[in-house]
Amino acid sequence: MNQNPTSLMPASRPSFDYSPYAVTYQNRAEYVPAVIDALVRVAEVPAGGSICDIGAGSGHLTEPLLRRGFSVDAVEPTPAMRQLGEQRTRDYPNTHWYDGRGESSGRQADTYALVTFGSSFDLTQRPQALAEAARILTGTGYFACLWNHRVLDDPLQARVEQLIHDRIPDYSYGIRRTDQTPVIAASGLLETPVTLSGTQVFRLSSEAWCDAWASHSTVSQQSGNGFTSLVDEIRDLVRAETGDWIDVPYTTRAWVARVAGDGKDSQR
Ligand SMILES: C[S@@+](CC[C@H](N)C(=O)[O-])C[C@H]1O[C@@H](n2cnc3c(N)ncnc32)[C@H](O)[C@@H]1O
Repeated sequence: MNQNPTSLMPASRPSFDYSPYAVTYQNRAEYVPAVIDALVRVAEVPAGGSICDIGAGSGHLTEPLLRRGFSVDAVEPTPAMRQLGEQRTRDYPNTHWYDGRGESSGRQADTYALVTFGSSFDLTQRPQALAEAARILTGTGYFACLWNHRVLDDPLQARVEQLIHDRIPDYSYGIRRTDQTPVIAASGLLETPVTLSGTQVFRLSSEAWCDAWASHSTVSQQSGNGFTSLVDEIRDLVRAETGDWIDVPYTTRAWVARVAGDGKDSQR
């Protein structure tokens, strides 16, 4: 992970380069649809309302938002991810893709009903990203961050997890599995977040699910040279335990927070 101070980074430079993960990222499970529905309801996004999806990647959250009829400006710093996202959403006229980061999106102030970070808030300098979200939100807008968490007490997932911990004894999920409430509250720019979660079992192609491990940046960063062989071991385990299809339970967890009246005022 690049540790340079954010202020020294040009607008387009990602804090963490996703280029090596772009192609296999496509095989990841979708977010639990009921959680996305609840999120836009809690955020009171009007029909056809404007959303800015930051760290939009290959459009994994952008596309479901577009499918629900919203207009989505997608901001993504990694060109390889952005190209896949543009391709995936090319049939939607109400989307535009931009180079930018959570900390400096390049989008206009006071514009969006909702700013989303799908599995990308942990890759930002979070206080700066919150300030940027508050800047581009309207005075009644909402910030949301969400992640898909594999359910680790599922029997097969528990074995995959054990394998990861055997190979990386100090393995940690870092920020992506932690409560985001304290950092959001500390910003003073947003109200206390509402948390939403929902679990769904996704039936996925076993091979595609194994391929998607190659896009797991958290494991990749911590396993170093052992990453390829760890992904191979996960594949061997899954092949021994499943057929063409694998049922994987995921919990989508979201934090949704409204702009605080005085938070917006203090930025003026
Ligand atoms: C795990 S992917 C998530 C992609 C997509 N939003 C999704 O829901 O699947 C994280 C994305 O965040 C991008 N990213 C990295 N650093 C970032 C930053 N500082 N601000 C915004 N996005 C960033 C990466 O390039 C990558 O595309």
